[in-house]
Amino acid sequence: MRLLLLLCAVLLGGPAFAQSDSVQTELARGRYLVETIAGCGNCHTPQGPGGPIAGMALAGNQVVDDNPAFRAVAPNITPDRETGIGAWTDAQLFRAIREGIRPDGSLIGPPMPFQFYRGLADADVRAMIAYLRSLRPVRNVSEKSVYRIKLPPAYGPPVGAIAAPPKADRVAYGAYLAGPMGHCLDCHTPLTEHGRDMARAGQGGQQFPGPWGVSVAADITAHGLGNWRDAEIERAIRTGVSRDGRKLLPPMAFAYYKNIAPDDMGALIGYLRTLK
Ligand code: HEC
Ligand code: HEC
Repeated sequence: MRLLLLLCAVLLGGPAFAQSDSVQTELARGRYLVETIAGCGNCHTPQGPGGPIAGMALAGNQVVDDNPAFRAVAPNITPDRETGIGAWTDAQLFRAIREGIRPDGSLIGPPMPFQFYRGLADADVRAMIAYLRSLRPVRNVSEKSVYRIKLPPAYGPPVGAIAAPPKADRVAYGAYLAGPMGHCLDCHTPLTEHGRDMARAGQGGQQFPGPWGVSVAADITAHGLGNWRDAEIERAIRTGVSRDGRKLLPPMAFAYYKNIAPDDMGALIGYLRTLK
């Protein structure tokens, strides 16, 4: 009898435990990614004069770009059914985040960095979705973006299954963090008329106009950061204070990067040092 009970416990309890455990870690992973290295809120959280507006995390209606080519407004991605993504299925959200295609088939415009998000690992996109779903739904209607340029039908062919590089492979994992996940290279790679010149990844030069004036993305390759100590690079990424003590201008996501895990920070800096 006791053996039978034990067997039942294993059969019934075992998998159930395993499941709630993995749901927990998936949610924690998603929270970590969205709130630190991915920094989705840097675009999707509305900003007031004093920074992100309290209680409005990821609730959108934040103008992220207003230029001759387009006026891009990052929408509400909290689970509100009418004004957010509450009515979208996981599969619809997955495709929107990684490939930039909405449930109705329309394309999500720039500057959400799909060139990089197309490389996000399946498990990480699922984790981010689990986290977005766990947020308190916020009702907030977002102004529609206006694109005066012609958007392509898609950012590329459908993306197949992707696994993240193993964390033990420091350079590969650092590249994953600087590319698909943190999109550092989105801003820090020179732009040409054909898009980002990835042969010169990390060499900087892009200009970012805003209320702060114009900031210019720095060279973050082994050349640009050659004389910097790891701790100085880490301080710049986490706190926005440059090597010489100068306060760095927006739009880099310091408020989010400040909580990047030490292990990830190490891989990230190690990777930057490999950029020529
Ligand atoms: C650089 C700014 C930027 C970043 C970073 C960014 N987004 Fe976006 N996102 C946008 C903009 C702008 C739009 C709307 C574009 C349009 O109107 O076509 C958008 C649209 C979306 C949509 C479609 C919503 C809808 O209602 O159409 C989803 C979902 C989304 N983003 C999720 C995310 C997630 C998750 C992250 C982080 C992993 C993220 N975004 C990071 C700017 C950004
Ligand atoms: C949205 C655009 C954007 C993103 C994304 C971004 N950066 Fe930056 N970054 C900038 C700009 C612009 C500057 C220069 C600011 C200034 O000079 O005031 C800068 C400055 C820096 C600096 C300081 C360099 C110096 O000489 O002072 C470092 C280091 C850096 N970024 C690393 C990173 C890393 C690592 C990531 C990804 C985790 C990242 N950046 C993501 C735009 C960005």
